[in-house]
Amino acid sequence: MKTLEDALKGRVAIVTGGASGIGRATALLFAAQGAKVVVADIDGPGAEDTAGRIAAGGADAIAVQADVSSPADCERVVRTAVEGFGGLHALFNNAGIIRRSTALDLGVDEWDRVMAVNVRSVFLMCKYAIPAMTEGGAIVNTGSGWGLKGGGNAVSYCASKAAVVNMTRALAIDHAGAGIRVNSVNPGDTDTPMLRDEARQLREDWAAFAADAADRPMGRAGTPEEIAQAVLFLTADTSSYITGTALVVDGGGLA
Ligand code: NAI
Repeated sequence: MKTLEDALKGRVAIVTGGASGIGRATALLFAAQGAKVVVADIDGPGAEDTAGRIAAGGADAIAVQADVSSPADCERVVRTAVEGFGGLHALFNNAGIIRRSTALDLGVDEWDRVMAVNVRSVFLMCKYAIPAMTEGGAIVNTGSGWGLKGGGNAVSYCASKAAVVNMTRALAIDHAGAGIRVNSVNPGDTDTPMLRDEARQLREDWAAFAADAADRPMGRAGTPEEIAQAVLFLTADTSSYITGTALVVDGGGLA
């Protein structure tokens, strides 16, 4: 019987956007479960900080400063895992950005940037990571509740996350034969720097934003650690017959 104890022992994992929020919590959890982790982020010092916390806990981590919208950077991240840790088994495509705006107010360049960081990145990381997963592997892409149901004042973000959810299904079908599972995790509001930045973009006081209960039947936002547990489940062998699925972790917000 497989359990989640030491679920990733001996595995090599890449976490993008690992300097903050959900990515950092997942990198720490992966390491606690036995993985060697490559922490990639456009925020180099932040990635170093996460890798330092992992090392302080006695596990192995390498920080890489990388922009996941860049093909060369994505290739370098994968190469770092293979050359630094001898292989690759898991990939968490988590880096993302949001612009809280309607189509009328959103700049064309802002649309392109959201699509590049949220969607092109998933294609690029998979393009380079899958050939490196020679023993099979598990990929988790970060969608969003808004990628499934839509939401107001975030037109590019909603489009980008819907693309991630359906790209995940396509990747799952294409690479199942190679022993590679691909799923998406779809968080609802999660208390991270991104969520607090959203309140700023909407010019809303954080307390008022946090108190808005429309999407939160449980009366609170999720924590990064709660999302990380779902990512661990989809990455570990305990979910060996799950691929192409969109797992929602939102405290009932879609219900
Ligand atoms: P965060 O802002 O705390 O962390 C995102 C990380 O991605 C940051 O460290 C940032 O530097 C990095 N990043 C941004 N652009 C990058 C690039 N071009 N290349 C490499 N790294 C880059 O945000 P959070 O909340 O932890 O978000 C993580 C993922 O979860 C994102 O994909 C987000 O869309 C998704 N999500 C978050 C929700 C929330 O309520 N916080 C809800 C649903 C989905």
